[in-house]
Amino acid sequence: MNIILFGAPGAGKGTQAKLITEKYGIPQISTGDILRTAVDEGTSMGIEAKKYMNDGKFVPDSIIIGIIKERLSKDDCKKGFILDGFPRTMPQVIALDELMGEMNTKLNKVISLNVPDDLILVRVSGRKVCKNCGTSFHVKFSPPKKENVCDVCGGELYTRKDDNVETVSKRLIEYHSQTVPLFNFYKDEGILVEIDGTRNFNVVTKEIFDILG
Ligand code: AP5
Repeated sequence: MNIILFGAPGAGKGTQAKLITEKYGIPQISTGDILRTAVDEGTSMGIEAKKYMNDGKFVPDSIIIGIIKERLSKDDCKKGFILDGFPRTMPQVIALDELMGEMNTKLNKVISLNVPDDLILVRVSGRKVCKNCGTSFHVKFSPPKKENVCDVCGGELYTRKDDNVETVSKRLIEYHSQTVPLFNFYKDEGILVEIDGTRNFNVVTKEIFDILG
């Protein structure tokens, strides 16, 4: 099963992708997580990407497409994958389409988690992420049992550098101008499903599982 999760920054893509991974046994491929690892490791790609990420801008397509080509060629993607945060631009859509052809496979569903911008700002400004396993918490909506400690692995929780109102506002502009127009491409393919991402975690998860079957 090959799935794309669309959604504004903080819509819940990462949260839901982890649950899909658990249930269906397919890997979550988050371009944001891969980029953050490269930034932390100080690789040349990370140094280049950081300039864009800290400013709330999309990282250039050439970098992102290279990441995805390499990641999808790994063995664990043979039985399927969840793309979390890719594609975000038309060149990325075209590159993915070509890649699917080369891999002799196709996308099954594109699920968009729809959340309005005012709620996005509330979600992102309260987010805490585990340094070790990447699980997201929220100070109000899903607080960890122990402050700043991950319930899943005991890792330390931190606030992402790009999770401030100014940067999130820029990320939302990028999302609305470059990513939302892509919906039409997948609508025409008949595989886009838009769901209300404002509801409780469990309700959103149940709807996704119902869609995926
Ligand atoms: P990335 O890390 O992908 O950031 P994003 O798309 O902005 O998405 P987020 O990770 O912020 O949010 P999410 O939807 O996963 O939400 P979460 O589940 O954590 O990308 C970062 C940067 O990298 C980009 O800005 C860009 O520079 C670059 N980049 C990445 N991919 C790129 C690409 N393809 N092309 C170009 N550049 C790229 O949830 C958020 C919060 O809400 C959490 O606190 C969570 O607990 C809470 N929450 C979630 N669901 C619910 C719910 N149902 N109810 C209440 N609270 C909820």
